[in-house]
Formats: sequence, C-alpha cells, structure tokens
Amino acid sequence: MKEQSIIFSKSLHQELSEALSKIEYDRLFVLTDETTNKLCLPLLNDIPELKKASVITIGASDEHKNIESLAHVWQCLSAEGATRRSLLINLGGGMVTDLGGFAASTFKRGIPFLNIPTTLLAMVDASAGGKTGINFNGLKNEIGVFRNASEVLIDTDFLRTLDKQNICSGFAEMLKHALISNENDWAELLQFNLQEPDLDLLATLLKKSVNVKKRIVKLDPEEHGLRKALNFGHTAGHALESLSLSQNDPVLHGYAVAWGLVCELYLSCKNLQFPHDQMLQTVQFIKENYGIFSFNCKQYDQLYTFMTHDKKNTSGTINFTLLSAIGSIHINQIATKEQIFDMLDFYRETMGC
Ligand code: GLY
Repeated sequence: MKEQSIIFSKSLHQELSEALSKIEYDRLFVLTDETTNKLCLPLLNDIPELKKASVITIGASDEHKNIESLAHVWQCLSAEGATRRSLLINLGGGMVTDLGGFAASTFKRGIPFLNIPTTLLAMVDASAGGKTGINFNGLKNEIGVFRNASEVLIDTDFLRTLDKQNICSGFAEMLKHALISNENDWAELLQFNLQEPDLDLLATLLKKSVNVKKRIVKLDPEEHGLRKALNFGHTAGHALESLSLSQNDPVLHGYAVAWGLVCELYLSCKNLQFPHDQMLQTVQFIKENYGIFSFNCKQYDQLYTFMTHDKKNTSGTINFTLLSAIGSIHINQIATKEQIFDMLDFYRETMGC
C-alpha cells in the first residue's frame, strides 16, 4: 500500500481544489452524515468543483455504521451513474470515513476517495492509515478492507464547533499514541485541560500525534506486527463499546478506548512491570475526564466473549498489545481468562463502579 498522504490544511478550499486537480475523475460524490450535512457541507459550498457533486447522506453516529447504510451508499452511487473513475469525498467523523472508505473500496472493485475528517477522533486516527469498514453482528469493524484515501485533508477549524464529548473522545486516541510513543508527549497530554480545551494548543498536539500513527503505519500498513501497537487499549475498549451497543446505550469510541487503557495499563503493570505510578496518574486523568462505564461481574463472560472476536487473536487466545514502559511496546501478549477477569475487577474497584 502506498504511503498515506496527510495534509494539514491552512485553507481547505485551496487544498481541496488542489487535491481534486491531481485526480482524474468523471463524477464527484460527497458522503456526509446528517450532522456534517448541516454543519460542515455548507462551508465547502463555494468550491466550484463541489457545485456539481452529488451528496449522499447517512444517519449520524456509530449505530448507523452498518450494512444498511453501506447498501444505501452503494445504491446512491449506482443510481447516480458512478463509474470506476468517480471520486467519493468522505466528509465527517470516523463513522463516515470508515464506512465511506469501505463503500468506495468495494464499489466496482474500488473507486478513489478523499477523507476530510471533521472530528478530533477522525483527524487523529480513523481517517488516515487505510482501515475501512463497518460494524457487523454486534461487533466493531468486523467487516472491512485496508485501502488508503488518496488524500486526507485535516482542517483543525472544524474543532471549533465540536462538542466537548467529541474532543474528549479523540483525545483518548492521542493519549494512546503518547503512551506507545514517549514520556514527554504523555506528560504534555496529562497537563492538558480537557474541561476548557485550548484549541490552538490542541491543534499543535494533534500534529505530533498524527505523526506517531503515520510513522507506525508506514512500517506496517496491514497490521502484521508493529501496527498492533495502535490497538493498545482497544481489546478491552472494543469489548466495552460492544457491550454498550448491545445495551442500546452506545458510548463514544474514544471513551471506550480511555476505559480500555485503564484495563490494559493494569495488565501491563501485572504482566510486564509497567511503572505503577504512571499507570495510576493516567487512570486518574481518565477518571476525572471520562467518568466511568459501569458493569457488574455477571457481565464478565459477555465482555470476555466480545474479546474473543478481537481481530488480533489467533488460534483461540486473546491477544493484547501491552507496554513495559511508555514507548516500550509488546505485541501478541496473551492473557488468560483469569487474568482478564482480574483486570476487570481492577477497573471496577479503581473506577468505583
Ligand atoms: N485505529 C488503529 C489503526 O488504525 O491501526
């Protein structure tokens, strides 16, 4: 896979026009969800190339990251006469860039797409690096393919209209990037005031964070090894997210990742001697800024079953990425059911649920 091109935009109009001029396409499509259709699409209206584009809109939030929304996108592309030389622009958060990327990658065996992420989570993680897909069978991102967007255009001005929950959600992935990278970035993030975020500082921290991902994806684009580092916090996090989805009370992805980090930092302490004080400092930050997701010990088996579906698993074992120190990554770490239940006990005791 070609290296992912990511542009930090100073003028979205100009950079989008430039990106469009580099791609030969016959028809232009823009995918939005109901929120970005109202709030973000109007900001692009005076770009001449977009005036002729067909707009496709799907429901907002992760509940709509499903086969029905995907079929709707395919249906619209087909009905509007999209060809293999048509181009899709995905304008939205991670749900739109993941689903739109998958729709484009599979329509007529693949048409090009551009991602314009509008949430912090999509900017720092989802929109770049080629993971596309949908949820299926109650499982997160169960169906999908690796395929890079032709270009990812990040305009941090979109952060100015983002609500606090979505800032916190994206920030959890930044915290993960810092934990798998270096102590300075980690310390800097723990100093950040998430309750009253300084958006200029956030944009600077975001660039550093995106570069962590870019460096890892360049070395291992299809997750055969090192890229599993980007899954730190996600084995437990995805299980908590799937549990919340099964209870019809979905949590934002980044919140589940933050709680997953609590679990997997504990496992890192237990199994790999990750420093206890740094684990507790991180847990405290998460507790203060993300609150708690409550579950009881009767739900451990269900969480365990969700973890058995993690894409990192092989031959029936549950496979974690853990750390022996900040920046010291250990992939393919197996944990027993007993260790996983102990981890869930720690989460509940420490978070107070
Ligand atoms: N979100 C993790 C990855 O892109 O690999």
